Amino acid sequence: MRVLEIDHPLVAHKLTVLRRAETRSSVFRLLADELVTLLAYEATRNVAVAPVEIETPVSSMTGTRLTDPKPMVVPILRAGLGMLDGMTRLLPTAEVGFLGMVRNDETLEVTTYANRLPDDLTDRQCFVLDPMLATGHTLIDSVNYLHERGAKDITCVTLLCAPEGLKTLDEAIDPAIDLTVVTAAIDEKLNEKGYIVPGLGDAGDRLFG
Ligand code: PRP
Repeated sequence: MRVLEIDHPLVAHKLTVLRRAETRSSVFRLLADELVTLLAYEATRNVAVAPVEIETPVSSMTGTRLTDPKPMVVPILRAGLGMLDGMTRLLPTAEVGFLGMVRNDETLEVTTYANRLPDDLTDRQCFVLDPMLATGHTLIDSVNYLHERGAKDITCVTLLCAPEGLKTLDEAIDPAIDLTVVTAAIDEKLNEKGYIVPGLGDAGDRLFG
């Protein structure tokens, strides 16, 4: 598993405003959207492309195009929905599938309550969107689900990660899976309630109330 923590002043600035307790929902949504677009630039670094012959007004040349099948973008409901526009702004031809997952606040166990994805993901590049990687169990289930259906490589785009969750994910996932985690920051720790510290609180609640 590769982990890419994006080191960029704009990412750091926007994330700082996002973290502040007084940042209201409307600003939070806007900042999350902008942050994802910055992260998406790095997350798509290995998106599959092929050469294409084109004519400019001046001459012919070999350019670059995205190959088929197009990437699959998978926001994890609910909070991942707040990242969808920021991602598809850079990948407008991507297909979008949905996974609905919720974490029990007491046990921290994850349940899947919605699934709108093709059964066959053979050779698809998948981008999973979820703002928080806390214990890691939501992404473990998501990655395994996509891999079982044939996904070629999987990139998880998150705003924040807990080091404990990254370790759990790395240990739980089959090393043969081509997995990358792209994040704006790896925070200090998880607290006893399963919240990332210092974190930004509950991303789903801050996005959608
Ligand atoms: C939050 C968050 C992640 C998950 C992370 O979702 O958006 O999906 O918890 O936790 P984990 O790494 O410990 O599994 P939540 O279950 O609160 O649902 P929501 O998106 O509907 O708010």
